[in-house]
Amino acid sequence: MTRYSRVAIILHWLMALMIIGNLAGGFLHDYVPREGGQRAFVMGLHVSFGLTIIALTLVRLGWRLANAPPPLPAYFTSGERLLAKAAHWAFYVAMLALPLSGWLMAERNERPLLYFFAVAVPKAGIGKPLAETFNEVHEILGWTMLALLAVHIIGIIKHLVMDRDNLLPRMGWGTPRA
Ligand code: HEM
Ligand code: HEM
Repeated sequence: MTRYSRVAIILHWLMALMIIGNLAGGFLHDYVPREGGQRAFVMGLHVSFGLTIIALTLVRLGWRLANAPPPLPAYFTSGERLLAKAAHWAFYVAMLALPLSGWLMAERNERPLLYFFAVAVPKAGIGKPLAETFNEVHEILGWTMLALLAVHIIGIIKHLVMDRDNLLPRMGWGTPRA
């Protein structure tokens, strides 16, 4: 069994953690109390991890294009190959478009956009009405990312339980089965 490269594995799990955290922070932010600046803190982390994800996605895409992933196991049907490919590339598109739409909507309010509460990040300068539209886009892309994640995890569970193959070890998790 060949694994993904170490760089691909580190980027995969680091970014999965950040994206799942951001999905949680985004969808649950209405439930975080405003008192004591709790919501501002959660959203401050949300935008900072989100901006980091833009940069990491560019690095990851560059790495992915320069380093082919290990070939899929031979028993994969052509349908499975197509599905895996489509889901993975849809993820790459969402990993760029979702945080970019977040950045584009930052002009909805007058507060400065701060990277980890410290460094001011320029806003897009597209005006409030368009920024409002990107708020809608951000929400739709958030649901899209959640749906992709569900398909991804269902696929992995299917391979783990039904095919009993080495998909997780390929991504650096656990020891491969013989
Ligand atoms: C939002 C979070 C996640 C994103 C954006 C994501 C994205 C991706 C992408 C783009 C690939 C394909 C890599 C490539 O060929 O370039 C991949 C592969 C993989 N992911 Fe995730 N992933 C996420 C969460 C997870 C979770 C939670 C698990 C474990 C339950 C997981 C397990 C895997 C495995 C095992 C592979 C390798 C599949 C193969 O061998 O082809 N991922 N992921
Ligand atoms: C991959 C990274 C990101 C993910 C997964 C993500 C996800 C989400 C989700 C699911 C929501 C809730 C949408 C709703 O139900 O209305 C949300 C809201 C929000 N996001 Fe993101 N986001 C990301 C990046 C960003 C970035 C980079 C920014 C800004 C620079 C940002 C700013 C916001 C703001 C301000 C809200 C609150 C919107 C409101 O007031 O309703 N997000 N995000």
